[in-house]
This record gives sequence, C-alpha cells and structure tokens, in this order.
Amino acid sequence: MRKKILIGNWKMNKTIQEAIDLMIKINLFINNNIVDCKIIIAPPFLYLNEALKIFNKKIQVSAQNMSEFIEGAYTGEISAKMLKSMNIDYVILGHSERRKYFREEESLLIKKINIALKYKITPIYCFGETLLDKQNNKEFQVNKKQIEQILCNFDDNQITQIIFAYEPIWSIGTGKTASPNTIQKMHQFVRRLFKERYSQKISNLVSILYGGSINSKNAKSFFIKSDIDGGLIGGSSLDENEFISIIKILSS
Ligand code: PGA
Repeated sequence: MRKKILIGNWKMNKTIQEAIDLMIKINLFINNNIVDCKIIIAPPFLYLNEALKIFNKKIQVSAQNMSEFIEGAYTGEISAKMLKSMNIDYVILGHSERRKYFREEESLLIKKINIALKYKITPIYCFGETLLDKQNNKEFQVNKKQIEQILCNFDDNQITQIIFAYEPIWSIGTGKTASPNTIQKMHQFVRRLFKERYSQKISNLVSILYGGSINSKNAKSFFIKSDIDGGLIGGSSLDENEFISIIKILSS
C-alpha cells in the first residue's frame, strides 16, 4: 500500500525566528502523537539546517528548488550535491511558481530530476493546468502532455522514486478547488498513464498528491479518495493549528 504523504511548502515566508517557532510547535505535536503518514516540510533554503536539527529525522526536510548544474560558477544557485552533503533527501521541482516566474519548463525540469535522482534526492514533481486550459476543457490533454514528457525519460526504477503532485494552477493560493470527484478523476487518469507506460504494479506504487487551497475544512474530502495519496500544502502549512489539523485528518 502507498504511504500517505503530507508536504508543507513554506515558499518565501517567515523570518528565522518565526520559522523556528513553527518548527518547534509542529515537532512537539509529532513527538507526542502517533502519526500515520510521512510529513515533509520545505522551508526556505536558509532555514534547512535549523529544520534538520529540530525535526531530527522524525519529519523529513525538503528544498523548494535546486540547480540543474552540479557545481561551479552559478551565482546564487544551490546544487543537489550541496543539498545531499547537508542530508536533504527531498526537493520540490516544477512548482507552478517556478514555471511562471522563473520560466522553468519540462526540458530543464527533466535535467533537474535526473540530477536529484543521481544524488539520491527524491524529487517532488508538480504538474497542473492553468485556468485557461480548464476553461477550454483542455486539462486532461495538458496534464497528459506534462506527465508523458517526464515518463519517456525515466525507467521503472527511477519513476517510483519520484513523488508526483497534481496542482491545478488556478487553485494555488486562491481558495478555489475543483470538487474532490473531479480531482480523483484526474489522479485516476494520471495513474492510468503510468500503467500504460510501465505496468499495473508501477502505477500502484506511484504516489500522487493533490495541492491547491487545501485547508483543515476541505482536507478530508480529498484525502478519502482512493487515488489521492496526500497533499502539498502552501498557505495552510504556515499556521501550526491548520497544519496540525491537516496532519490529523490525513493520518486518521
Ligand atoms: P496553497 O499552495 O495550499 O497555498 O494553495 C499550494 C502549493 O503551492 O503547493
């Protein structure tokens, strides 16, 4: 059975003191409760070391991005090699904000996924349609294209090491979500693509999370769906009460 996964993506938020306070509160909850899901927190790069120390492996720590280069004269960049040397085991790649503001596209993301896998860092690969795609009823077509570009580059062994996150762009940070049934249908559709490209066994193994305006009120309606293996949480991961409520819902 696939393990349930909850990822908190803090994006470019919090001062160091605010970040430490939040980490300590989440950590306290994890230490005092039995939690039946994998929790991964992605703070800004600057706070990764604090997160590793505070969470002490009970909560996994992820970077929010990573360079496509291994090392060298790339001012301002952070490499997979550097992340691995700090014991960071996860990296979010292809988030729609990276695609939109930093023009990251599939060809670049494939390079990044390859390097992450080479350094044994689990890529958390985000995909999803725009509002315009949805209005034109093209969401299945667009997501199929994004996923197939990835699938044709990785073998059976590599693909099961990637966590996938379906994030309809129009739903991120907007408070708007599709209905749980609509999202379940997309997850089912994507899982079928894995079956066609690899096998039933592989498609059953791949984790597909949903992300986009999840909060403690709507989380359950998504998490009860059979093909939704957890969530990638933005705004609601910045507040300890909200995030802890979502952890409780996923692990119940
Ligand atoms: P949101 O963000 O939960 O604030 O919509 C999700 C994400 O960007 O991963």
